[in-house]
Amino acid sequence: MENETQITPMPRIGDKAPEFKAVTTQGGINFPADYSGSWVILFSHPADFTPVCTSEFMTFASLEDKFAKANCKLVGLSVDGLYSHIAWLRTIKDKIEYKGMKDVEVKFPLIEDITMEVAKKYGMIQPGESSTKAVRAVFFVDPKGIIRAIIYYPLSLGRNFDELYRALIAMQTADAFSIATPADWQPGDDVIVPPAGSCGVAKDRMEGKEEMKCYDWFFCTKPIAKETILKTVLKK
Ligand code: BEZ
Repeated sequence: MENETQITPMPRIGDKAPEFKAVTTQGGINFPADYSGSWVILFSHPADFTPVCTSEFMTFASLEDKFAKANCKLVGLSVDGLYSHIAWLRTIKDKIEYKGMKDVEVKFPLIEDITMEVAKKYGMIQPGESSTKAVRAVFFVDPKGIIRAIIYYPLSLGRNFDELYRALIAMQTADAFSIATPADWQPGDDVIVPPAGSCGVAKDRMEGKEEMKCYDWFFCTKPIAKETILKTVLKK
């Protein structure tokens, strides 16, 4: 196959997370095997020592405990080297005060990927945006190592971390209660019940055993209390 560019297919929702071993600011990792049993958010950023990325890292580091309580670990990546990562994270801790955040220590691993091997495997290099930097990609990987959601942002757009957390809790709630979540869902809002495919579900509905509101035959919701979700998903 001389002269043909080898194109790695981009991972998709439902795929097994592509495997890799990497050097990080917290030592070596074997992904996703080391994260078995946990959710993990694998995210890329374009470059160390840049302003949008700095605001994002400070925000993510400040939220690390909140994500950990939802059984979710964080792993960052850029195509910079380890010494650049270390110097940048030290600068953030020692010098940057931003939106009330200061003395921020990034304790989650940041992958060095100077060869772009991992970034290419995950479709983080998008040449239309940049062929030398990773875009802002976010991969949600579940405890079985399956990719459950993917979000990409361009270089100029900092991520919304409330949305990343909301998406995580919504997917965990969908798994735990076999429901779906409507637009802008937040814990405590009504959830969408699946169409009555089985006789048992249909019978319960006909007998009014499920506390449901139907907008039409294909669109029904039911309440799940916020406390129930917090107890189940956050074990609170
Ligand atoms: C930033 O993080 O500020 C940034 C990085 C690469 C390109 C543009 C902005």
